[in-house]
Amino acid sequence: MKILITGGAGFIGSHLADRLHDEGHEVTVIDNLSTGRYSNIEHLEGKERFRLIIDTVLNEKLMEELIKETDRVFHMASAVGVKLIMERPVQTIETIFKGTDVVLGFCARYRKRVLIPSTSEVYGKGTAVPFKEEDDILKGSTSKHRWAYACAKELDEFLALAHWKESRLPVVVVRLFNTVGPRQTGQYGMVVPRFVKAAIENKPLYVYGDGTQSRCFAHVADVVEALIKLLETPACFGQVINIGNDKEVTIKELAEKVIKLTKSESSIRFIPYEEVYGDGFEDMRRRVPCLDKARKLISYNPTRTLEDIINDVARYFQKSKLVEGVLVE
Ligand SMILES: NC(=O)c1ccc[n+]([C@@H]2O[C@H](COP(=O)([O-])OP(=O)(O)OC[C@H]3O[C@@H](n4cnc5c(N)ncnc54)[C@H](O)[C@@H]3O)[C@@H](O)[C@H]2O)c1
Repeated sequence: MKILITGGAGFIGSHLADRLHDEGHEVTVIDNLSTGRYSNIEHLEGKERFRLIIDTVLNEKLMEELIKETDRVFHMASAVGVKLIMERPVQTIETIFKGTDVVLGFCARYRKRVLIPSTSEVYGKGTAVPFKEEDDILKGSTSKHRWAYACAKELDEFLALAHWKESRLPVVVVRLFNTVGPRQTGQYGMVVPRFVKAAIENKPLYVYGDGTQSRCFAHVADVVEALIKLLETPACFGQVINIGNDKEVTIKELAEKVIKLTKSESSIRFIPYEEVYGDGFEDMRRRVPCLDKARKLISYNPTRTLEDIINDVARYFQKSKLVEGVLVE
């Protein structure tokens, strides 16, 4: 099949590109390299059945050509990460909403299957874990920029479901919970790569807040497998589906685990959220997905553990160091 991956030079998109290319598909990646990196897909360049286009998904003329000729679209391009959202809220909202509007519009015109990733951030301030897809949602005030990401992604969801309702566009909306693995950078505030990199360098691991907030981490290989299955399962069209891992860990426990597994001499330091994100930042205490729907629809069963994730990320950083003389970041 011909597959188009927007944001394919990013963390999840590049793993998706590897996997689909390995399976024998013809893969086209479009990425503006804003948070993605050429090094993530460099190994695919020059191979048969792979094409990289460095451009933006906001280029409508190009997007129309690409979507018209493809069989499947994975729309992974997005502004991502809480830090980026706090620093550049306009770019965040525009990239997310306008980009998805362009992609969905052409997929509807040419009747193409499309996967739209959303985020667990959409669950807002909900405290009734595990989060179910049909739960009501409570978010913060619009004066708190952190919520812009969640609201823009929620609008993406509404638009995707509207296309399904009006014209039965074969679209799947996936609410991704924390996804981690090699190639994710700590630059935009992602906690696992940030901790692993610090631990390898024997520098302090900075835990924001008191570290009792918890998260669930899924290995990117488990997630990519699920995304491919979802788009090949017509029962998933017009559905919103949680994907992630439901094993919970506090951020303090995570820091301790990273130090132990990397045999690091790092210490753990606690810093207030305001020092990192400025005044008025609100964090979610817990974020646990209910995976019943994914289990039922695609027999979803993530097999990689947190230990696997930390070891793979550590190996990636060590290899990067070895190859380039410095840690990739
Ligand atoms: N990683 C996670 O834990 C996580 C959690 C929830 C949701 N998601 C969603 O998954 C998707 C992929 O995230 P990721 O973690 O791989 O992030 P990423 O930043 O590595 O990937 C996003 C890619 O999109 C590209 N991009 C941004 N704007 C673009 C534009 N206008 N045109 C073309 N390309 C553009 C970036 O350069 C980057 O390569 C996003 O939609 C994100 O919201 C990820």
